[in-house]
Amino acid sequence: MGNPQTIWYNHQKQLVETIDQRKLPFQNLIIEIGTLEEAGDAISEMVVRGAPLIGVTAAYGMYLAARNYSGNDFQAEMKLAAEKLKSTRPTAVNLAFAVDEALSVISDHISVSENVEKLFDYAENLKHREIDFSKNIGLHGLKIIQEISETKNGEPVQIQTHCNAGRLACVELGTATAPIYLAHEAGIPVHVWVDETRPRNQGARLTAWELGDAGIPHTIIPDNTGGHLMQHNMVDMVIVGSDRTTLNGDVANKIGTYLKALAASDNGIPFYVALPSTSIDWNLNDGLLEIPIEQRDGREVSMMEGLLDGEVHEFMIFPEKSAVANYGFDVTPARLVTGLITERGVCKSTREGILNLFPEKMNL
Ligand code: MRU
Repeated sequence: MGNPQTIWYNHQKQLVETIDQRKLPFQNLIIEIGTLEEAGDAISEMVVRGAPLIGVTAAYGMYLAARNYSGNDFQAEMKLAAEKLKSTRPTAVNLAFAVDEALSVISDHISVSENVEKLFDYAENLKHREIDFSKNIGLHGLKIIQEISETKNGEPVQIQTHCNAGRLACVELGTATAPIYLAHEAGIPVHVWVDETRPRNQGARLTAWELGDAGIPHTIIPDNTGGHLMQHNMVDMVIVGSDRTTLNGDVANKIGTYLKALAASDNGIPFYVALPSTSIDWNLNDGLLEIPIEQRDGREVSMMEGLLDGEVHEFMIFPEKSAVANYGFDVTPARLVTGLITERGVCKSTREGILNLFPEKMNL
């Protein structure tokens, strides 16, 4: 992949740098972020995407807003910056989490330049926290893959995933893919069924690229294929990520996740959600009623991008005048989730299960 992490601060240029995920897998381009506006645009235009990476980008965005500040009310300007960032994408709670945490490190009792330093440290710290979370999610999920592998007589563990909850969606390793990377490294044979994930094809474009780069056997499937594979014992487990999980265990993730969970439940296949605690919304209970679902431009559905004679082209793929709906996420009810794989361990997708792992959140 070339870049060990998905986002970093370039001290020489004094700019944040990240991979332009809109261009993968055809081009691997680095993009520079030097202002609050550029950070906001990178999130809304999906240069960066995936819940943890969106959070870390927003944290750097808050730092850049502070660094470029030249007004006469620092606190008010930072609150405005927070609102701007929060308005870019509504579903992944990591965004609001990072922005609110960044606001909480700002102090009236120190100078602006000291606050700028604190915000930089916060962004770096969040990035390193996400890396640690991914590693621990990987270790806890690895045990589940190991157990399944012991029943397979040396045959690969067949894992289905949806969208990209890989290193590109995080900083390193990923969430859903972290256990897969560690299993592969440990010599456990795995094979991944990669849902293409219409309309933006994060599975086909990003997850397949990542897994290929790591030498992990995988096969891209159209989104409608999972149920058929499950009915024919070709899937041992499903692991997906999450953009926002409520305290009672309802999971918002990329549109189409719910249908995979239904098919898994009908076929008795374990359906795991891997997520850091930064993707848990401690204030929400009912995912269906309370999680805001992003709706995006219909052109993401009607236009397809691909390579033709070595060049990237966009194509219109259906009647131009047809109406289009483009919901970015859906909610999988807690009852369909076998377990949540978090940085602190695996728990049932229930309020009790979550609070057992995170008792400090009990009185929120
Ligand atoms: O719209 P995206 O590409 O930002 O959606 C990403 C997903 O749905 C991921 O599965 C989710 O953020 C989990 S990332 C570890």
